[in-house]
Amino acid sequence: MSLRLGDVAPNFKAKTTEGEIDFYEYLGNGWGILFSHPADYTPVCTTELGKTAALQDEFAKRNTKVLAVSVDPLDKHKGWINDINETQNVNVGFPLIADDDRNVAGLYDMIHPNASATATVRSLFIIGPDKVVKLIITYPASTGRNFVEVLRVLDSLQLTANYSVATPADWKEGEDVIVVPAITTEAAYEKFPKGVKIVKPYLRYTPQPNK
Ligand code: BEZ
Repeated sequence: MSLRLGDVAPNFKAKTTEGEIDFYEYLGNGWGILFSHPADYTPVCTTELGKTAALQDEFAKRNTKVLAVSVDPLDKHKGWINDINETQNVNVGFPLIADDDRNVAGLYDMIHPNASATATVRSLFIIGPDKVVKLIITYPASTGRNFVEVLRVLDSLQLTANYSVATPADWKEGEDVIVVPAITTEAAYEKFPKGVKIVKPYLRYTPQPNK
């Protein structure tokens, strides 16, 4: 059965370009992003791994470890990473899983047979420190991911986890956020000393608490 939001992310052991890893041990107590690629030496994936490498500091700032999956073997991954470093002007410093037995692809339902019988689709999972799946995005093989959106969702999830706020449509870092419905307005005034703007009893904004 496929994974859904709120499910516990399955643990696994895997061969990676950074050695054997246990997924949960690799994540530790932080956040994680697991994302799949149709195959090595493909153009869109090359740019995506390059972009992920370029954003390594941004992920680290958010206490988030990234981990890529491709169903090709380790020796092929290593050659491809050299190409990524060369063409994208980066230094890939996160593991790329060699999922040649399709174990991780199966656990995370990354093969959609009607799209391709063998290649993984472009799936991305954000996993919280509690190992629960917080976000699933699936792109077709021909569309590279929007990493600005990935960071934006990560920021939103971390605000919700730490401050009981939600984020409105198209929210960007620094803009007002929404008080979650579970908090009474009385409690909101106490919890958010920067102020609460009540547009409707169910639509209440407060300045971003960690700014
Ligand atoms: C790619 O990963 O680059 C790709 C895969 C399938 C179709 C087009 C591009």
